[in-house]
Amino acid sequence: MKIKDYENYQKNILEDVEKYLEKSEMTKSEQQFLNGIILQKKPKKILEVGVAAGGSSIVILNAIKDIDDAQLYSIDKNENYYVNNEYKTGYLIEKFLPHLKDKWKLYTGGITASFIENIANGKEIDLCVLDTVHHVPGELLDILMILPFMKKDGIIVLHDVMYNCLNYKIGISKKYKCFNNKIGISNNVLFSVVKAEKILPNFSEYFVNGVPYPNIGAFIINEETLNNVDDIFFSLSLNWAYIPEEKDIEIMRKLFMKYYNEENIKKFDIIYEFYKKESESLKYRINSYKHRRSAIICFKFFQFINNIKRMFIK
Ligand SMILES: C[S@@+](CC[C@H](N)C(=O)[O-])C[C@H]1O[C@@H](n2cnc3c(N)ncnc32)[C@H](O)[C@@H]1O
Repeated sequence: MKIKDYENYQKNILEDVEKYLEKSEMTKSEQQFLNGIILQKKPKKILEVGVAAGGSSIVILNAIKDIDDAQLYSIDKNENYYVNNEYKTGYLIEKFLPHLKDKWKLYTGGITASFIENIANGKEIDLCVLDTVHHVPGELLDILMILPFMKKDGIIVLHDVMYNCLNYKIGISKKYKCFNNKIGISNNVLFSVVKAEKILPNFSEYFVNGVPYPNIGAFIINEETLNNVDDIFFSLSLNWAYIPEEKDIEIMRKLFMKYYNEENIKKFDIIYEFYKKESESLKYRINSYKHRRSAIICFKFFQFINNIKRMFIK
């Protein structure tokens, strides 16, 4: 089935959970886009990578509540909510919507490669929402851990495909000066290099130079996507903004060895070794997710301004 007008498709269904989506990092139209894709495609096995408070998980769980046998598997590297350590990752569901939990399994404390083989049980994932670091290597590595387990015609939804153009910088404190969204390019790079049928919404609350510009996108996997996976390995050579933990590199490398050819593993090794060596002199280092906190505050402010702009434009 061709997906059409996804952000308007059954968007009223979101009203059931609207009041719990305050901490969602997606704007309203982005939530509607995700909701519409799910309700049109009716995926059974859904993977979410990057949970935070649970905003996008709520959108997905709410959309699948009446889809028979649908199940959401969510992965987050942090056990605790990265913006506020006092809360668990995904706490919004436990706190406000526990009745949606029977269709949800949450895995925290590891990267995708730590859990994916158990989750996928073969090549079974219909839809994946990928929303993690936004800094290279970030989602470029995540997607390589995910692709071998996606169904043919499966859909990948990417959030923050234009994160680097958002004007978060306005309020970032001096303390967190090293956090710079201008280098938050990994989902943009991924969306640009991947060979697939790509989908963007028709509407956005974000403006770049006054022009609405969508910050969420999706692509439908086809033969070309899998035949051109070398391009994604190649894109890994772009400047790394942080170095993943050594234990995570080991886990993902083991997975890559199973699913990708020797040439790509070699590329991965060379690039990783290069940036590991360089890391001491990297200009931007964002190993700590605490740096995101000030960005989130600015993000909320930015959303607020955009909502006001929209009111006047309408
Ligand atoms: C942008 S937030 C996710 C926002 C959420 N999808 C929403 O819309 O409300 C990014 C999340 O990714 C997690 N994360 C960072 N690196 C990760 C990785 N390599 N694998 C899985 N999760 C990761 C962080 O802990 C954080 O919770």
